[in-house]
Amino acid sequence: MSGPRKLYVKSYGCQMNVYDSHRMADLLAPEGFVETAAPEDADLIVLNTCHIREKAAEKVYSELGRVAKLKQDAARDGRRVTVAVAGCVAQAEGQEIIRRAPAVDLVVGPQSYHRLPDLLARAEREHRRGERVVATEFPIEDKFAFLTPPTTSATRARGVTAFVTVQEGCDRFCTFCVVPYTRGAEVSRPAATIIAEVRHLADAGVREVTLIGQNVNAYHGDGPDGRTWTLAQLLERVAEVPGIARLRYTTSHPRDVDDGLIAVHRDLPQLAPQLHLPVQSGSDRVLAAMNRRHTGADYLRVIERLRAARPDLALTSDFIVGFPGETEADFGDTLRIVDEVGYSGAFSFKYSARPGTPAASADDQVAEDVKSERLARLQDAINRHHAAFNAGCRGMTFDVLLEKPGRLPGQLTGRSPYLQPVQVMADTHLIGEMVAVTVTDIGTNSLFGALTAPGRQEMKPALAALGA
Ligand code: 5AD
Ligand code: SF4
Repeated sequence: MSGPRKLYVKSYGCQMNVYDSHRMADLLAPEGFVETAAPEDADLIVLNTCHIREKAAEKVYSELGRVAKLKQDAARDGRRVTVAVAGCVAQAEGQEIIRRAPAVDLVVGPQSYHRLPDLLARAEREHRRGERVVATEFPIEDKFAFLTPPTTSATRARGVTAFVTVQEGCDRFCTFCVVPYTRGAEVSRPAATIIAEVRHLADAGVREVTLIGQNVNAYHGDGPDGRTWTLAQLLERVAEVPGIARLRYTTSHPRDVDDGLIAVHRDLPQLAPQLHLPVQSGSDRVLAAMNRRHTGADYLRVIERLRAARPDLALTSDFIVGFPGETEADFGDTLRIVDEVGYSGAFSFKYSARPGTPAASADDQVAEDVKSERLARLQDAINRHHAAFNAGCRGMTFDVLLEKPGRLPGQLTGRSPYLQPVQVMADTHLIGEMVAVTVTDIGTNSLFGALTAPGRQEMKPALAALGA
C-alpha cells in the first residue's frame, strides 16, 4: 500500500496567490494529498506564479528547471511526479510554458482552480498519450462557490491571521498593469459566502482577517438583503463575527475610496489604522499616462479625509519609477509626495514593460540605468520615513496580536495595529491573544516590546503627532 500522495505548492507574488494556494491544497486534501515543505518528496508540484513584472515571471522558468531535475530523479526511482503551473504566468503564457518546459503536465489559470481534481485526472490520461493540458479559459461559473464551499470545513485556518478574497480582477486598466488581463474583469463574491467563510475561520481560531482583492474597495457584492453591498458595509458586517478582533483590507485604488469607507475608518474599532493606498507616481503627467484617473492633489485630498476620520492612520503605497516618458521633474514630484504623506512604508519598482499592456509599446521608454538610479533615491526616501515612523513608536502602548514563536527562545512575534512586526517576550499560551504591548526598542524591520502589566492600557493615537 502506498501512503498519501504528497503535494508541494510554491507561491509567488501577491497575497491572493497565497490564498489561492491554500484553497488548492484544501481542495486536494479530500483527494488524498497531504502538503509537504520538501519538493523532492512531492508527487504533485504546483507553482503558483506571478506575472506582474518581468523578473517575477522569469523566476518560474528557472524554478521549472529545478523541478524538471526532481522529476527526472523521481522517475529513475520509478516514481511519477506531476507538475502543474498555476497563477498569472499560467494565464498569460500557457502555450509558451508547454513549449519551453517539457516537465510541465498541466497549466491552470486562476479561474479554473476549482476544477483542479478533474484537471489532474485529465493530465494523467493525456500523459499516457504524450499530451499536456492547458486550462486558461474564463469559465462562466462562479469559481468561489466551488473553491470555498461555505457550509463545509474546506477552508482550513492556518494560524491566527487569514486572508479572505472578496473580489478578484480589475476594471481599471492602468496602462502598465497585466492584472485586468490575467485575473480578468472585476468579480465580487456574495457577502453571505464571505461572512460564512470568516465565521468558519473565527471558529478555527483566526482573530485577524484581511479582506483581499486586486481592487478591493471596488467591491460590490450581492448582500444578504438583496442589495449590492459596498466594502464599507461588508467590513461592518465582518466585524460583527464573534472572535474577529482585527480587520484589514488590501489593495485599494484611490478613486474607489468612498465616503462610507472613510466613515468605517472612524467608526469601526476593529478596523486597523493602516491602509495600503498605492499612488504609483507623484506626477500628474505620469498619472494621466498611467490612466490612474486621479492627480497627486486628488490623492492627497483622499488621505486628508481619511486622516481626519482616523488621525493615527498609517499609510503605505506602491511606486513605479521610470514609467515611459518620466522626466527628472516628474520623478521629483514622486519624491515630494513621499515627503508629503510620510508613509510608514512602501514598495517601489522599476517600470517593467509587460506584453500586451498599452505602456509597453510607448516609444519613450526610460533607460535602465536611469530607472536604477531613481529607484535608489526613492528607496532612500521611503526608508527614511519608515525609520522615522518606527522611531516614533518608541514608548507607545498598543494592541499586538501574537501570532507565532519569535526568533529567540521565549519570544513571540505579532503585529502592531500599523502592521509592524513586534517581538515580545511572552509565553506560547498567549499565541492568538491580542495583548497590550509597550514598545521598548526599534530594530530595522521589527519593533521590540514588553507586555504591559498590569491589565490593559488604552491605545495611544499618537502617530499623527509624528509629522514624518
Ligand atoms: N512594472 C513595474 N511595477 C508594476 N506594478 C504593476 N505593474 C507593474 C509594471 N509593469 C506594481 C504596481 C502595483 C504593484 C502590485 O506592482 O506598483 O501597485
Ligand atoms: Fe493593476 Fe491595480 Fe491598476 Fe487594477 S488598479 S489595473 S490591479 S494597478
